[in-house]
This record gives sequence, structure tokens and C-alpha cells, in this order.
Amino acid sequence: MIAIQPMKTIVSLLAAGCLSTGQLLAQTNPVFTVNAAQIKTPVQKTMWGIFFEDINFGADGGIYAELVKNRSFEFAAPLMGWKELRQNNANGSILINNRGEQLNNPRFARFTVRSAAGYGISNEGFRGMGIKQGEGYDFSLQARVVEGNVTLRVELVNAANEKIASTSLPLSGKDWKKYTGTLTASATEAKAKLNIWFEGTGIIDADIISLFPQKTWKNRPGGLRADLVQLLADMKPGFLRFPGGCIVEGRELATRYQWKKTIGAVDDREVIVNRWNTEFRHKLTPDYFQSFGLGFYEYFLLSEDIGAEPLPILNCGMACQFNSSEVVPAEELDPYIQDALDLIEFANGTTDSKWGKVRAAMGHPAPFNLKLMGVGNEQWGEQYVERYKLFAKAIKAKYPEVKLVSSLGPNPNGELFDYLDPVLRGLKADILDEHYYRAPDWFLNQAKRYDNYDRNGPKIFAGEYAAQSKAIASAENSNNWQCALSEAAFMTGLERNADVVHMASYAPLFAHAEGWQWTPDLIWFNNLQSYGTPNYYVQKMYSANRGTHVVSTTLNNETAAGQIGLYANAVIDTVSKEVIVKIVNTSATPQTSEVVINGVKKLDKSAAIEVLKSGDLQLANTFARPAGISPQQQTIALKGKKLPVTLAPYSFQVIRVKML
Ligand code: AHR
Repeated sequence: MIAIQPMKTIVSLLAAGCLSTGQLLAQTNPVFTVNAAQIKTPVQKTMWGIFFEDINFGADGGIYAELVKNRSFEFAAPLMGWKELRQNNANGSILINNRGEQLNNPRFARFTVRSAAGYGISNEGFRGMGIKQGEGYDFSLQARVVEGNVTLRVELVNAANEKIASTSLPLSGKDWKKYTGTLTASATEAKAKLNIWFEGTGIIDADIISLFPQKTWKNRPGGLRADLVQLLADMKPGFLRFPGGCIVEGRELATRYQWKKTIGAVDDREVIVNRWNTEFRHKLTPDYFQSFGLGFYEYFLLSEDIGAEPLPILNCGMACQFNSSEVVPAEELDPYIQDALDLIEFANGTTDSKWGKVRAAMGHPAPFNLKLMGVGNEQWGEQYVERYKLFAKAIKAKYPEVKLVSSLGPNPNGELFDYLDPVLRGLKADILDEHYYRAPDWFLNQAKRYDNYDRNGPKIFAGEYAAQSKAIASAENSNNWQCALSEAAFMTGLERNADVVHMASYAPLFAHAEGWQWTPDLIWFNNLQSYGTPNYYVQKMYSANRGTHVVSTTLNNETAAGQIGLYANAVIDTVSKEVIVKIVNTSATPQTSEVVINGVKKLDKSAAIEVLKSGDLQLANTFARPAGISPQQQTIALKGKKLPVTLAPYSFQVIRVKML
């Protein structure tokens, strides 16, 4: 319990210089004063968003619901993920054929089957296939019969090789055709495999062998994993940044992300290596490739589905500076710039424009209303500035309404940052992308980072951030409560400075429990389950309680930014007519406190409070305890304009009060 001193004693101790303000706070109950009539700044609709990158099996093996790995035999090792099946010495063989480099996906598999039964192939999926009892799965393949008479027996088997679904597909005709069938699972299995047995004899060519759950997000055939998209939708994100991240850059330019290669018919999209494949020695994933089944059209659609502004980030003629540092000479940058201009037309152009027509043909005649675009990911140095200027000049000349995001490099301070920041400000850049992967303490100490930023300069996009419990990108990092709490504290400062900070997103977003390369991550999943980390709930609580305007908030008459471990900020929502107060207690002690809400004629009698807390800073959510740290709801009665609240140790709460 905190000992309450008589006010006279406190005043005399202060006067004698025996007490600092912090000590004074420790002696008295902290009082948060919100003045809902004192509006500081609007909060942008884009304030809290999502950073998506195909890292950690985020797309292939993750949100893109395809269950077959290496469906078109285009991985560097063409049979990676596949295995021949042979019973009773059955006579059969497989040969990978290549139709030539002019095709995007030139390979197919030729099966020569000489035994009437007992020969087949099996796909292992992405660390197995997640199959659910009673649910339907769409199987398909492209095939032609070169000779003979063959029927496919398609089966799903569990980890013990027991059949849990099966269907038959007779093949016919010498021309390539798409064959489809449905498998209905009799059991749930996280490590299922797809077996295809050849019945009869002959020679069969096959390609694009695919299996999708029927239950995808919005039940779209060949779509996205519903549970993962739902977690994103629940965040009510203001924007969706895609496709990354370093994946935009590629380790070298040849493997950079090229949006035009990711649209059109899914089967024709060129498969390339994923740059995270062998990036970290401690976490090699040599079977990580990009099928681009989730391509730019699908990213735009996803943004629309979840109500987020699309924010594509484009390669600016520079490969990853942590890897090859390969660049395109500035004089040869035109095709890269043209890609950016064409993307705006693809997203926004009329259906009779070249690229608008492509969008319409894919099923979306209405524009996607692209307003934001990133030039380069995490670039730095003079080379970046030179290229950024060329992009900005061309894009602004044709599409002055599109706001450009420019990179401030990989660090929030230091040489690279100190060079870029003034240069880009001098160029009157629209939005600067700051990245910070730092220790929890850094986040606590930086809660006032933006208080003194230039109010008239470029806006800030806190584009990638996450507290690192051990060290940056260490395999031992944990999504523990200490990290999430420090982010919550720091975010009060982002929100307080919403006139400068227009966007923020945690990174990376997804991680497959057996296929990850980088940790910490916002959402973890395996083949059947997914859960939000404490960091996820922090993001969600901010985003779902964004409000419309920041209002004056103090803690005993000062900015609430760490005194006795407390951080706070308040917004109002002029649409729902609510005052929303966010308070973080990073101290180990409960704090008896009061929130006074001024500037409102009448308040509701009670407040709805959502609390995220744990006494154990090392605690993280797990598959066994997915909601271990998750928001708890409570209601507290107001006394007039005062709300008595007890701030639990290590807690983050969001308080909502109706303005009547
Ligand atoms: O979020 C993981 C990586 O961190 C991103 O790809 C990159 O932009 C940053 O270095």
C-alpha cells in the first residue's frame, strides 16, 4: 500500500527540496485528467495498421491456404516436398520435364506406370497438412494422358498413414485438362499427407497439383486461411502494408518482388525462391519459395475485405543492403519507375486503361482507391536518395494525390538515420518510415520521442517495430508480456503525437510454429490453430479504440510518460460519442488512481474497461494457452466526472465512457 502523506507535509518537503515530482507522485494517488473539450489533433484513419511480409511461412504455408508444397515442381530441387510411393515393388517412375524458359513455370512431371497398382506420389505439405474432420477439400491438377488408361486414387492420410479421405479421378485425353475432385475428411489431423495412387498403366503428365480447404476466408476457392484473416479483420486495421519487408528488395535484384509477375492466372505466376529461405543459419528453411498465389490483386482484395487502406511497397532499384547491395544504375531505373506508375493504374485506373482493364478482368472493375505507396523498403545512403528522387518526380508528376512513403533505414537513430532524415525532410517527403527493433527499455524511454518532432514536416510511419526480449532477430526472442507492455507504453506517445505520426505497424506479422525464421511475431499459427500474442492484443486494443481526436491528458499536470511507471493518453470518438483513455502501468505495484474527465456536459454513469495484464513479465501465449494474456472486460461506476480505477501491476487498460 502507498502511504498517503498529509498535503501540508508534502508541500513542505517539496519546498525543502526533499522530494522530486516523481517521489511526490509515489506519495500520492496518481490522478489522470482528461479534457475532452481540449482537442489536440485528429487521429488519422490509417493510424494503426498491419505490416504483412511473406516471412516465417506468412504467405505460402500460412495465410495462402494451398496445402500442397511445390505444386508445380518449380522449386530449385523439383521434387522437394514430393516422395514416390511404391507397394509390392510396383513398377513406376517419375521424370521432371522442362518445356523451356519462355514459360513462367516450365516444368511438369511425367509418370510412367507399368504396374496396375501400387505406384504413386505423396506430398508432405508445409510441415504436414492441417485437415479438419467433416470439412471438404478441393483437389485439382492439370494432366494429360500420353498413353494407356489410368485413374487417380487421391487420398489424405494421417501421420500414421491411415486414410482419412479419398476420391477417384479417371484421366482421359491427350490434351492438358484441369481435373477436380473433393475430399471430405473423416478425422482431424495436423500432419496429414496427400497421396496420389496411379491405378492402371500408362504414361501421365501432371502439373499444378493442388489442394485447398473449401472453408477459406469468405469461402473463396483457392483463397486465404479463414482463421488468420479473421485475426487481421478483428484488429480493424487502418492500412495493410504489403508485401514487406526485405522481400520487396530480394537478396539480389533478380529475386526482388515484381508485382506484375504476381497477377493474372495463378498457375502462370512464376515461382521464385523466398529470400528468407536460407537467410538465418540458425533457422534454415530451404523449402521456402514464393508461389505468388497471394499476389498483388489478392493483397488489394484483402485490404478491401478488412477495411484497410492498401499500402504497397515497391522495389526502387535496390536489392537488400544487408545482403548483396546490388543496385540498378540510376540511368536504367525507368522500368522500375514504370512499374510504380502502372501499379497506380492497376489499382485506380478506369476499366479502359491498360492496367485497369487487367484488374477488371481479374474480377474487380471498381478501383481499389490506392492513396499510399512506398518507394523502397529499408534502404539507406545516397544511392537511396538518388533513386527516391527519380521515383518521386515521376509519380508526383502523374499522380500528385498519391502519398509516398520513404525509408529512413533500419535504425531509429545513428549514422544512417542521421544522414537520411534531414535529406528527406529537405526534399519535403510525404511520409518517413521509421523502424525500431529494440529492447523493451528502449520503448519505455522513447515514449516522448515524437513530442518535439517538427509539426510541419513529413509525417511519420512507424512502419516496423517490436520489442526484442533478447536481441534483434535472435531465435531466443519471446513474445512475452514485458515486450508487449513496453510497446503499449510507447504507443501512448505515438497516439499523443497523432498530428505527426500518421501510421504505425508491428512487424513481422505471422509465424508458423515450425517454419519461422524471425521472432518475435504478432500472430503464431500451426497447421490447425492460430493465436494472438500479448503484442497482438495491444495492437488490437489500440486499433479498435482509435477514436477520432486526441484530447488533452495529464498525470498530475504533466504528460503521462513514465512517472512512477505510468503512461497514458486519451482520445474522443466523435462518431460513437465516447471518451477513450489508455493507461499503462509498467510498475510492479498496483496503483490506486483516478481518471477525471473534464470538458463534457454529462457522462454516462459507468465506464467499460478492457484490461490486459499479467503479474509475470516473462509470460507468453502458447498453443496450449492461446488466450493466457488476453483482454478482460469490466465495468466501473463513475462518481460524477471521476472514475476511480485500480491499475493492476503490469497492466494496460482501455477505458471507454459515453458522452451523453
Ligand atoms: O520484419 C522483418 C524484417 O525486418 C523486414 O523484412 C525488414 O524490413 C526488417 O529488417
